[in-house]
Amino acid sequence: MDVPTVVDLSVRCLAVDGGLPATASPGYVEGRYAGPGVTAVGAFHDGTLIAAGSVREAGGSIVVTGQVDPSHRGRGIGTALLDRLLETARRRAGDLRVETESLTPQADAVFGARGLRRTFAEDVMRRDLSAPFPRAQLPSGVVLAEWSDDNHPEFFEAYRISFADRPGFPGWSRSRWTDWTAGDDDFRPPYSLLARSADGSPIGFVTCARDFLIQVGTAPSWRRRGLGRCLALTALTRMRAAGENEAFLDVNANNPASAALFRSLGFQPLARRARYEPA
Ligand SMILES: CC(C)(COP(=O)(O)OP(=O)(O)OC[C@H]1O[C@@H](n2cnc3c(N)ncnc32)[C@H](O)[C@@H]1OP(=O)(O)O)[C@@H](O)C(=O)NCCC(=O)NCCS
Repeated sequence: MDVPTVVDLSVRCLAVDGGLPATASPGYVEGRYAGPGVTAVGAFHDGTLIAAGSVREAGGSIVVTGQVDPSHRGRGIGTALLDRLLETARRRAGDLRVETESLTPQADAVFGARGLRRTFAEDVMRRDLSAPFPRAQLPSGVVLAEWSDDNHPEFFEAYRISFADRPGFPGWSRSRWTDWTAGDDDFRPPYSLLARSADGSPIGFVTCARDFLIQVGTAPSWRRRGLGRCLALTALTRMRAAGENEAFLDVNANNPASAALFRSLGFQPLARRARYEPA
């Protein structure tokens, strides 16, 4: 399918549904609607693409995704598109997954009616970096260090102890997590920070990419002492100093502590990303 045409459709959807701006970028669209192994379907009205969807293989699953132009919703186009894509997906070998970058109540109802249940959801949040930041203070004796070739094993240790109690903690190896975190050109070491206690132990961290806060975590014994707030705010302050105007992040729908932290820092929800699988 023609990538620029799908990008135009994605931009129209994004304007109404909200979500990460990157989801309407040519690179993102190309990965989902063009290229080897992708089956893409489009619906046109007067020569304009008004709906598009695809089936592709990702992470060992058969992944279905799609979108309908906001001014053509409510006429059954999305349901017809989904049925066509599900039929295509079921002819391929692998576990079926349906993904959306911006869940609407209507989509949730259609997925449910097709015997799909939600297995993952996260909220995309945004903060305008020109708005004033609240004050924060590091707990006494705690010092911060930027990401470097020397200290990234300590970042991993801080990640491991902070996230081990999260549901679905994947237990990745150090190299897998480091690659996932820093293996991209968008990763930003100057605003990725490690917190060490007075005895030098890693007790918290924050990692960031260009205009994106990837993860923040604090060791269980250090929680509710302002460390998470201070790590996030220091990273955002550095992000702003580097010339960035806005910051985005994802918060899992099952993580109220994290959502409360980010709301208290001025982040607002933009959209809900979600994944559905056969019940
Ligand atoms: C989320 C997390 C980073 C918060 O770290 P923290 O050091 O405890 O955060 P702070 O002490 O700075 O708390 C700042 C604010 O966040 C909110 N908050 C933090 N933990 C909370 C909780 N368990 N319940 C409700 N609100 C919470 C509160 O508004 C708090 O302000 P307050 O203490 O004045 O009420 C920490 O709980 C954690 O590491 N969780 C596991 C990893 C994770 O889920 N990370 C976030 C996703 S990337």
